[in-house]
Amino acid sequence: MINLSQLLGDIAALLIALSGLAVIIGVILIKRGDRVWHPRVMLTATGLAALFLVFYLLKWGLFGTTRFAGPEEWRGAYYALLISHTILAALNGPLVLWLIFNARKQRFSTHKAWARWTVPVWLYVAATGWIIGQILHNYGESAEGIGF
Ligand code: HEM
Repeated sequence: MINLSQLLGDIAALLIALSGLAVIIGVILIKRGDRVWHPRVMLTATGLAALFLVFYLLKWGLFGTTRFAGPEEWRGAYYALLISHTILAALNGPLVLWLIFNARKQRFSTHKAWARWTVPVWLYVAATGWIIGQILHNYGESAEGIGF
């Protein structure tokens, strides 16, 4: 039988990974001077990250949080990953909106200066988001105890 909670988590993990890949492609495009496809791909990356949030919140709203139930010696590393991911993910939202705002206003030197920080933050959030998704897929259990 399909486990809906796990399915929503898997979709969320896929979406955040795809948003990271789109950011990498968007950076390559602008490095090649493509001012048409760079914004398109970056806005796609933003849409994928927003969609990730929808699936993540849907899972959270319907099934609550998922607890780490893997090997004890991994617990510290897992929480370090989760906390750094969560803090930087919260920071990434306003950073991305600020980048888009500056691009729309044609303030490209400001856009470039902030992009230098935002891109690594976004890639860290996407990579750790995907890793956390894989860990919870294999070692997660519902915090409510109603079966994950
Ligand atoms: C939303 C996420 C976005 C990210 C993460 C992002 C990231 C970047 C990065 C890394 C650069 C290159 C900086 C460098 O060469 O050192 C750049 C440049 C640029 N971006 Fe974006 N960008 C985003 C959205 C947009 C949008 C929506 C536009 C719309 C017009 C845009 C237009 C440009 C342009 C024209 C440049 C070249 C600036 C220049 O060389 O003077 N970007 N962006």
